[in-house]
Amino acid sequence: MLQFLNKSLKSSNTFQLDVIADRVIELSDKADLSAAIADLSSSEGKRMILGGGSNVLFSGDYNGTVLLNQLKGIEVTGEDEEHYLITSASGVNWDGFVETSVKNDWYGLENLSLIPGTVGAAPIQNIGAYGQEAGNLIESVTSYDILNRTTFTLTGAQCRFGYRTSIFKNELKGRVFIINVTFRLRKHFTPILGYRDVAIRFEERESDGILAAEVREAVIEIRKAKLPNPAEIGNAGSFFKNPEISTAKFTALKQKHPGIPAYPIGNVVKIPAGWLIQEAGWKGRRYKNCGTYPKQALVLVNYGDAHPSELLELKEMIKTDVMEKFSIKLEEEVNIID
Ligand code: FAD
Ligand code: EPU
Repeated sequence: MLQFLNKSLKSSNTFQLDVIADRVIELSDKADLSAAIADLSSSEGKRMILGGGSNVLFSGDYNGTVLLNQLKGIEVTGEDEEHYLITSASGVNWDGFVETSVKNDWYGLENLSLIPGTVGAAPIQNIGAYGQEAGNLIESVTSYDILNRTTFTLTGAQCRFGYRTSIFKNELKGRVFIINVTFRLRKHFTPILGYRDVAIRFEERESDGILAAEVREAVIEIRKAKLPNPAEIGNAGSFFKNPEISTAKFTALKQKHPGIPAYPIGNVVKIPAGWLIQEAGWKGRRYKNCGTYPKQALVLVNYGDAHPSELLELKEMIKTDVMEKFSIKLEEEVNIID
């Protein structure tokens, strides 16, 4: 377990913000887990866990202790006729985990290729992309309760996964360290081709002959064409969630804005926040050292040396303009760290 004082977090957050943490503990050996949690829970002041830093926006220097999770290891922990149970330590890189699963013929994760971050953060907002969500494949999550220093395991159902949410973003927010996640992955591959961008790639193919590696490759290409690479341009993916509005509100909006894209889900309608931001005039627009990405208005970017306050100002201006134009309140997907 390594410890650093007054350490820059620039390389530990994908917005690449040069903020300083009072103290950083790097946890890479499972044998140090109890000591690291004991240290964290008894440390004075603020404390937080950081994985890949790809879903956080620091609002300034962090006056507290950061536990940087680097626990590694992937194991087959069970199987039945149709599935493997695969347990991954929480500090494993998510896309490395997806790649390992595809190489080993453990199926289900392909559509979630190239999402940055760690396995341990996947259940927190129930990461999703291209027609799949991590929660659909999670068998259980084992965590350490930071307050009373006990470990406990929740089943997938107990995690209460929803669109970009789970128990970890609600009742358990800030209370636990996720140690490992067990996935129930299939032995037989069935491609998920419902999302338009993916469907187009495979429209000439028989579903039977499509390989998991091909779906992974297609998703990687789609993402590379649309989303900025955080190693080149600081960003944290979609900054806001796609809002869900009532059918009545949608009908009224559609009269005023006939081109509004919409995805009905049960008795609500999901509207792409990227479209709302674009129509509010923000697509590709710069503000000080930041802005929205020209190919995807939902992604806020740091063009270099942005101060956290610039991104906070930008996101507030966007929210105000979307509210004014559409009477829709955008909600942050990214975790703002005070
Ligand atoms: P961090 O940013 O380090 O942490 C996020 C939150 O989880 C923080 O509150 C942190 O305290 C907490 N946390 C992290 N690890 C633990 C742990 N072990 N125990 C307890 N709490 C913990 N997300 C999607 O859902 N779909 C996408 O398609 C997608 N695309 C993206 C594309 C880009 C280019 C980027 C930059 C981000 C994208 N994201 C996407 C968001 C992000 O990749 C995910 O939310 C990811 O799961 C965050 O992982 P992380 O390890 O970086 O978490
Ligand atoms: N759109 C625009 N202008 C834009 C961006 C989008 O009009 O600038 C409209 C288009 O109509 C487009 C639609 O929005 O067809 C959907 O866009 P896209 O396919 O890029 O997906 P998204 O809804 O913007 C969501 C997730 C992504 C995920 C993709 C693929 C949220 C908040 N975001 O984005 O997740 O990768 O779908 O499934 O749900 C993330 O969470 O960080 C993230 C990147």
